[in-house]
Amino acid sequence: MQLLPLFLLAATSAAQTPQSPLLSGDVDACHNACAALQTALGDRVFYDSNSPLEGFRDEYYSAFQREVVPACVVTPLSAADVSEAVNVIRDHQCIFATKSGGHTMFPGASNAPGGITLDLKMLNRIEVNVESETAGVGTGNRWKDVYKVLEPLNVTVVGGRDSNVGVGGFVLGGEYFVAWTLGGISFVSRRYGWALDNVRNFEVVLANGSLTNVNQQSSPDLYFALRGGGNNFGIVTRFDLEMHPQGQVWGGQNIWLFDHADMSSRRSALGLTPSRFSWTLNWFLQKASTGVLKVACRLGYCTTIDKMFEVFLDVVRVDQVDPYAQLYMSLGYAAQVNAYIAFSALIYSKPEEHPEVFSKFHAIKNVYSTNRFGNLTDMYDELNGWNEGGFRQEWAAITVQPNKDLLMRFFEVYMQEIELVKEVNGLIPSMVIQPINKDEIRNFGKNGGNCLGFEDDEGPYLQIVVSSAFRWTDAADDQAMHTAGKNFIDRCTALAKEMDLLHPYIYQNYANASQDVFAGYGEKNRKKLKGIQDKYDPEGVFSKLQPGYFKV
Ligand SMILES: *[C@@H]1O[C@H](CO)[C@@H](O)[C@H](O)[C@H]1NC(C)=O
Ligand SMILES: *[C@@H]1O[C@H](CO)[C@@H](O)[C@H](O)[C@H]1NC(C)=O
Ligand SMILES: *[C@@H]1O[C@H](CO)[C@@H](O)[C@H](O)[C@H]1NC(C)=O
Ligand SMILES: *[C@@H]1O[C@H](CO)[C@@H](O)[C@H](O)[C@H]1NC(C)=O
Repeated sequence: MQLLPLFLLAATSAAQTPQSPLLSGDVDACHNACAALQTALGDRVFYDSNSPLEGFRDEYYSAFQREVVPACVVTPLSAADVSEAVNVIRDHQCIFATKSGGHTMFPGASNAPGGITLDLKMLNRIEVNVESETAGVGTGNRWKDVYKVLEPLNVTVVGGRDSNVGVGGFVLGGEYFVAWTLGGISFVSRRYGWALDNVRNFEVVLANGSLTNVNQQSSPDLYFALRGGGNNFGIVTRFDLEMHPQGQVWGGQNIWLFDHADMSSRRSALGLTPSRFSWTLNWFLQKASTGVLKVACRLGYCTTIDKMFEVFLDVVRVDQVDPYAQLYMSLGYAAQVNAYIAFSALIYSKPEEHPEVFSKFHAIKNVYSTNRFGNLTDMYDELNGWNEGGFRQEWAAITVQPNKDLLMRFFEVYMQEIELVKEVNGLIPSMVIQPINKDEIRNFGKNGGNCLGFEDDEGPYLQIVVSSAFRWTDAADDQAMHTAGKNFIDRCTALAKEMDLLHPYIYQNYANASQDVFAGYGEKNRKKLKGIQDKYDPEGVFSKLQPGYFKV
């Protein structure tokens, strides 16, 4: 049923913005470092005045990162070039940032203000090794290019759900590349774990410039650290990813409208003006007329927020063990119609129509659905289509135990905070809920375990990442939006604490620059990570000189 093709929901992506003191490169040190890089790498070094930099900026997803001006940009052609660059940078003590896909939202994360930006986009080889069942994937690839190679072979790797996200940031938990990053929750994660659990080997440039292969046999400590430790331990130049057989899937994007009367009474209870559809919007009306929307609700094409959470929690309940089901839900506000809507990607990773596990979702009439048979690439590309770049973007995330009352209270907070900024230009706010299933957590133990800090004996084995994903257009609204986002996350955190449902984990790929991601890994893991850092990077090349992303 395709009544109203809304396309508003920000489909979500990776990360944040370190606004506070955005560390800038020392002018002299960086000038000298750029000159030395030019001597070493010649035409791989670009300055702001070069025309290639214009295209370079547009590769970043978020306007915050596009606005950063580096002293120079280096695009290494090989791991040896990266090694050379690290040596020069260390010797000159200029700050730097590393870019894979450039999907992180906050400034400085993968573009260094006044420093050196290492753009890994030319490290884009993809080598399939049938014997070892791995794909060697250069860090600068975007997932769509990886899937394009693997799909005809009927195999897949655990990668990004937004096909335009870069490989590096996604897998490492962060940064460099973009959306749905690190950690790397994918549409097959209940079967195989997150992206970081499926890296057999990392090819890495260490702080002293040496190029090495890191795997469970060669250096278990560094291997542990790289699976969740972000960009703190080296620059990964190639990931050898485990391949898994994969055929057609069934699923797509679905949109539900919320019942107008129900929403109005909820808003009144919170002292907000009852919502009214204002029928003046343009683009909305291109596809849907006022009448259509009103009639839609009358015909039963609207649901309630209660119902949506109920169905969501049913699908992710602990005894629901179907590993082929993967979903997330985004609750968005459409300023143009002053209405709230729910958006969910429901993906079943084998070719079975209307799988039982999603039956309750499918029983609620939606206004838009693309559920169909397709390959995973189709699903990833579709999601990417919802994720237009170039806007101001800010995300933040917390993790809570599943509980409907808590989610309802979060939604109330969301409505209250959005009410204060609803006039903001180009506003597309979302509250995203993303389950971390027990199957995924079990896979965290693979290959000696990752460093995210989840314990095996952890209660119900299911957590939910709740994130704010706000998009807007004008710099003049930055302050108001920072405040709205922060209030949302702070108030949700307080509510979850009050109800004893807060989990310390913060999903790095969605975290805001102001959040302490590594605190959520637990004191024990953090200490262990610091020890590994002391061993491999005693001078702090990746911690002090690369300040723009989450630091251990
Ligand atoms: C994100 O961090 C910036 C500072 O870097 C802060 O201004 C903003 O309020 C934070 N936003 C959220 C949603 O926490
Ligand atoms: C994946 O699906 C798309 C669209 O249906 C199709 O064009 C493409 O050829 C498919 N890829 C493979 C490898 O089957
Ligand atoms: C992939 O699967 C399709 C459909 O089952 C099949 O026709 C094709 O031969 C397979 N390709 C390979 C390389 O195995
Ligand atoms: C670089 O550091 C690694 C890890 O600490 C060490 O094994 C290697 O010997 C060092 N290489 C050089 C050339 O110092």
